[in-house]
Amino acid sequence: MSVSPVQQSRSSEWAEQWSMFADNERFLFEEWIRPATTEVFRGKDVLECGCGGGHHTAIMAETAASVTAVDLNCADLARGRCAGLANVDFVDADLAAMDLGRQYDVVICIGVIHHTDDPDATFRNLFRHCKPGGTVIIWTYSAEGNAMVRYGVEPIRKLFLRGMSRSGLVWLSRLITLMLYPIVHSVYRLPLKWLPYWEYFANFRRMGFGRNVLNVFDKLNAPQTHFTTRTKAGEWMSPERFEPDSISIQPYVGVSWSLVGVKRAPVPSGAPAPA
Ligand SMILES: C[S@@+](CC[C@H](N)C(=O)[O-])C[C@H]1O[C@@H](n2cnc3c(N)ncnc32)[C@H](O)[C@@H]1O
Repeated sequence: MSVSPVQQSRSSEWAEQWSMFADNERFLFEEWIRPATTEVFRGKDVLECGCGGGHHTAIMAETAASVTAVDLNCADLARGRCAGLANVDFVDADLAAMDLGRQYDVVICIGVIHHTDDPDATFRNLFRHCKPGGTVIIWTYSAEGNAMVRYGVEPIRKLFLRGMSRSGLVWLSRLITLMLYPIVHSVYRLPLKWLPYWEYFANFRRMGFGRNVLNVFDKLNAPQTHFTTRTKAGEWMSPERFEPDSISIQPYVGVSWSLVGVKRAPVPSGAPAPA
């Protein structure tokens, strides 16, 4: 499937990220998909949109009937991780443009939609690939609660870090992470919930150093990030598209949204279909 030259170059940045870091904190995946649980994959055909290094692919493949894992072109890393899993297939494609010619029981997209060129177009294509009655699960960075990253980190990244070598970025990420530890383990242990990123840093304390470095590196390395507003999340997860009782839009540690919904059956002919 086709991937444009610009996306090819971006995906090399991602491929390097996944070759240097492993996400071994399974609890994060389980929390990001809430209120769904890993039981949602059992016996189902799953479409994973943006598989990165394939660590979630492997988790889902434990119980899913099949997992089709799509990414721009870093599937090689994921292939290595999932070698021997007969129920996993990999596809190199752009999520907004792919046409896999079928629909899936579960369409899941973790930490990816905000990095695509056009999150709306990506969302529409993900939704299109879900069967009526199937479940869509998306975890995305929120606009709300992310002022420091949006207006502090992002401009610095664009101005100064684009030309930096990947190994330089890794060392910078380690340094920043190290510098965060004394703050996160002192001031942020006090019940000062009004502090920015208070919930986020509580989560920081649950993770190992390597995972925290990955989080910082991801912020500095990602070629582009569109932060999802609550309004946008509501537009995507509209009752026209999803069973109203199934729609869940939950904040996660104050910096992201977990979106879950069961796709509605097709509208009767004559009625307007959602895009
Ligand atoms: C932050 S990583 C998340 C990977 C994985 N879902 C995880 O949670 O570990 C973002 C991934 O999205 C992929 N990606 C970004 N834009 C994409 C696009 N337009 N089509 C397919 N994959 C894309 C990148 O290649 C990268 O692997």
